[in-house]
Amino acid sequence: GATGPLSGRTAIVTSGPTHEPIDPVRYIANRSSGRQGHAIAAALARLGADVTLVSGPVTIPDPAGVKVVHVERAEEMRDAVVSRLPADIAVMVAAVADWRVATSSEQKIKKKPGEAPAPLQLTENPDILKTVGHHEKRPTVVVGFAAETENVEDNGRTKLERKGADLIVANDVSPETGIMGGTRNSVKIISKAGVAEWPDLSKDEVATRLADLIAGRLNGA
Ligand code: C5P
Repeated sequence: GATGPLSGRTAIVTSGPTHEPIDPVRYIANRSSGRQGHAIAAALARLGADVTLVSGPVTIPDPAGVKVVHVERAEEMRDAVVSRLPADIAVMVAAVADWRVATSSEQKIKKKPGEAPAPLQLTENPDILKTVGHHEKRPTVVVGFAAETENVEDNGRTKLERKGADLIVANDVSPETGIMGGTRNSVKIISKAGVAEWPDLSKDEVATRLADLIAGRLNGA
């Protein structure tokens, strides 16, 4: 039994990408290592929380001290998260694919010489953060991320409102920042109260600070 400012509290964290099948051997995905989400799950556990990490396909190990549920697709991730409500804390870090293939093929799609490939029909995936942020069992503290390449603060503020989050951790993921897939991060913490800047920290440091901030909000600091 862990002791700490979050002992007795439950948390659900999503991390990593999702893989949306095209056929049994192909998928649509995005660039996400899972490093930041996994670090946040571990940091919440270090403060004593009972943490469930719902992870998409990643190559990094399961973090210590948390329960891990491995999923592939956005719909599986949504089901894994929603079925674990109620919780005190939700931190949705996963880079969920915005779209999935409307009717993925049971069999491998064969290429036919001289024929144009069949176009992929896409359909929108569920927004897990938005679902949790507006759920009747909404956690007390709901945190989302906003990976942007421009207008980081404005887009973060819009996301805070639209998704029903208490905090948005916004970062600039332009290729030249090296954040996507890297070990460092530079974030803005957006809440109703305003914006705090946390420049150039390791993803572990971002996780530790965010866990402290969440504990403070839950415990009325
Ligand atoms: O809308 P956008 O993808 O930029 O929002 C990012 C935030 O929303 C992240 O917290 C991400 O985990 C969450 N999200 C989600 N389900 C989606 C899309 C995004 O939970 N389908």
